[in-house]
Amino acid sequence: MIPEFSTTAPRDGFRSDTATPPATIPCDALVVFVTDDAPAGGAAAEIDRATGGLLGRLAAAGEITGKRYECTPILAPAGIAAGQLLVVGLGSKAGLDQGTLYRAAAAATRLLAGRRRASVALVADRSWSARQVEQAVAGSAVGMVGQDLYRAEKKRTPFGSTVWSQAPADAVATGTLIADGVNLARRLVNMAPEDLYPESFAEAAATIAGRVGLEIDVWDERRLEAERCRAMLAVGRGSSRPPRLVKLAWRGPGAGADQPDYALVGKGVTFDSGGLSLKPPDGMLTMKCDMAGAAAMLAAAATIAALRLPVNLIAACGLAENMTGPAAYKLGDCITARSGTTIEIHNTDAEGRVVLADVLDVVREAKPRRIIDAATLTGACMVALGNDVAGLFTNDQAWCDRVAAAARTVGDPVWQLPMYPEYDDQIRSEVADIKNVGEGRWGGAITAAKFLERFVGGIPWTHVDIAGPAFSEKPRPWTDGGATGMPVRTVVELVRGGA
Ligand code: BES
Ligand code: MN
Ligand code: ZN
Repeated sequence: MIPEFSTTAPRDGFRSDTATPPATIPCDALVVFVTDDAPAGGAAAEIDRATGGLLGRLAAAGEITGKRYECTPILAPAGIAAGQLLVVGLGSKAGLDQGTLYRAAAAATRLLAGRRRASVALVADRSWSARQVEQAVAGSAVGMVGQDLYRAEKKRTPFGSTVWSQAPADAVATGTLIADGVNLARRLVNMAPEDLYPESFAEAAATIAGRVGLEIDVWDERRLEAERCRAMLAVGRGSSRPPRLVKLAWRGPGAGADQPDYALVGKGVTFDSGGLSLKPPDGMLTMKCDMAGAAAMLAAAATIAALRLPVNLIAACGLAENMTGPAAYKLGDCITARSGTTIEIHNTDAEGRVVLADVLDVVREAKPRRIIDAATLTGACMVALGNDVAGLFTNDQAWCDRVAAAARTVGDPVWQLPMYPEYDDQIRSEVADIKNVGEGRWGGAITAAKFLERFVGGIPWTHVDIAGPAFSEKPRPWTDGGATGMPVRTVVELVRGGA
């Protein structure tokens, strides 16, 4: 059911080969990457020689330009052992970065996975850094997996075996583990809400935790009651599926035993109907994606554990289904959150912040050095930044700068929005300590973040609003639509620290 982080080696038939010359690797397809300044240079030069100057002629004729994500298949070229050559553009050599390599490799495997193939080889350029190779490998393992979980006739079929030529074995191993994280997050998000609900998410988390050696503790509704998580419980009350809180812990080799270095927090609303403030059908269609933050944080924690990173880390996923059943929470309700803060409910569709109020309080109690949360929190963030860019919000600029730098390194687009104290006035309530929406719609992503800030107890915290980039309604060269797995790679990079 969940293939990611399986303990079989080599993982999913991925391996490195630093000995065989690329032109002589027998395979169904050989993938070579080129830049726009020299569309027959770099690793392609060797292929160009083997094929008697074919790539040079195609470049001269303008058939191959090296433009970013351009894929040119050449069937049965003479001089190489592969059945076909796929030339993939990377754009300019000067602008080559990890994000471009991740997406270009994904574009290549996405194209080739359109039909069944026994073996594919991809050629790493010797000029790439180890981190660049890792991201290219990760992209190649993500691109061949589609969102077609429920189709009899699959749109994408992962290759029987994938060889990364001229890539160091440890970079291939690391890259496939990063891909496992991204693909796990994508799978959970792409699953139908009838299959993925708080309890089944918690079961999936337990399966994964067992495979990678994460500690796991699942709070059911009785435990949530005992822990006074009334905010989470309120959101879940309109559903026949009770809420769950999944707590994970990783103590890496050599990591301190005291304070967690990091707390990862994810919004896990497994379906968001809006509750009594019901969403219109158009807005509800993709709301299986509303647990993408929780999926990403579970997946990031699993990758961090699988990589055996030397950190002390906790993660918490707040899982609830926002429905309209007879016990549903109501407009005007005043809920006492776990922290003691009372929340007046003005809109049951602003449920993510209500769930996170309790989850943030649970991690705050463990006194982590820093908190990062990911949440498909607001449509307003999409109004501000569009579909591809995540919003960043913080109470600690240095910590936010680290998050932004990690995102930039791996090519996840993010942009910080302000947190002026004046926004706090908008979430004041006449009857409770705070209310769960701002005044009117303007600045809605910020007032939501301001609400969350009330529950982090002054610990350095950065909130990542992934309402836009978590889920893509349209296909791109590097992905069929659906879940993207953002921001798994950013969180893994953040915890690894740059190299
Ligand atoms: N899950 C939604 C936000 C969302 C919208 C995520 C579109 C992904 C795509 C969230 O729970 C929500 O409904 N937010 C409301 C808040 C409003 C009622 C203050 C919104 O953004 O409209
Ligand atoms: Mn909502
Ligand atoms: Zn929601």
